[in-house]
Amino acid sequence: MAILVTGSGAAIPGNKVTNDELAKRVDTTDEWIRSHTGIGARHFADDGVLTSDLAVEASLAALKRAGKKPEDLDIIVVATVTPDYLGFPATACIVQDKLGAVNAAALDVNAGCTGFIYGLDVAASMLAAPRRTTALVIGAETLSRISDWNDRGTCVLFGDGAAAFVIEKQDDDEGRGVLTTWLRAKGSGATSLYLSQPRRDKTFEREPYEAPPAIVMDGKSVYMFAVKAITDTIEALLEESGYKLEDFRWIVPHQANARIVQAAAKRFGIADDHIYMNIEEYANTSAASVPLALNDLVEKGLVHRGDLVMAMGFGAGLTYGGVIIRW
Ligand code: UT7
Repeated sequence: MAILVTGSGAAIPGNKVTNDELAKRVDTTDEWIRSHTGIGARHFADDGVLTSDLAVEASLAALKRAGKKPEDLDIIVVATVTPDYLGFPATACIVQDKLGAVNAAALDVNAGCTGFIYGLDVAASMLAAPRRTTALVIGAETLSRISDWNDRGTCVLFGDGAAAFVIEKQDDDEGRGVLTTWLRAKGSGATSLYLSQPRRDKTFEREPYEAPPAIVMDGKSVYMFAVKAITDTIEALLEESGYKLEDFRWIVPHQANARIVQAAAKRFGIADDHIYMNIEEYANTSAASVPLALNDLVEKGLVHRGDLVMAMGFGAGLTYGGVIIRW
């Protein structure tokens, strides 16, 4: 049995904010952001819109493309670092309810910007059980809500959005589907990228929380980690799968910084037209970044049945890893 990708969809908030528009509120310039990251704009969710709302919009589009109803779903996995509720319940449960997916188990995966890749592996593994056939894997974020608007080194980097994929356990004699995943973590780097939040480590503590949660990042150390993470992931996926880089129609990296991707591409000699980038339009959308890029390929008609695609992520945790899918 294969795990086939049978439908995808995205939710892009209508509020697009260009670098020049952001520069009216933050001490930055279009020139700095573009030259340091490749970002040209980001989309922000309207006030009141939650991560689950974006996830549901993306999911309905994915279900429609797959020809599935919410009742057909056995599993819903939401990869996110901006859940509706910090802690619990899982955003996947909110999504399950909003979709009316009455037969589905639902859980969140917190693996930073590698979340969608981890989520795909979790869902594919869960589909191995008898009777389960259909899963929905979603990457969804409202990073604008946890951005530190006083830190120009981070707040210019992130955007909101969601993308969802339906995967199904089916017979297949063409060697298609989710073929290989490779996942790793480096928890020693946990504090290079984290969400600051007042944390109670004393019983009976009653003092009110002081500050809202906000992203803290040591950009330079994450940058160095990211270049190595991409390199290690490509090497491991090639070794585990036996494929060569030239077998791949698309390499789809997490869209954190175009310079990180360029460094890895140079090292392996990968041509630009084999790497898919959309950071210019959406910025870094964390767990939504990889599925948004994959969904772009689908919507633009750039990926065809039988094409081999490698996608990879790296981010908070620290986590990293990748997946090979034959479309
Ligand atoms: O998705 C999770 C994974 N995340 C990543 O992969 C991010 C990895 N890190 C990076 O992509 C880069 O480190 C950044 C894009 C975050 C930063 O780039 P950088 O080249 O490392 O810049 P920097 O932090 O060293 O700052 C260089 C200069 C500083 O000025 P001085 O001290 O040299 O005068 C900063 O104050 O740029 C200044 N600066 C800015 N200037 C205008 C920092 N942010 C800004 C800004 N606008 N937004």
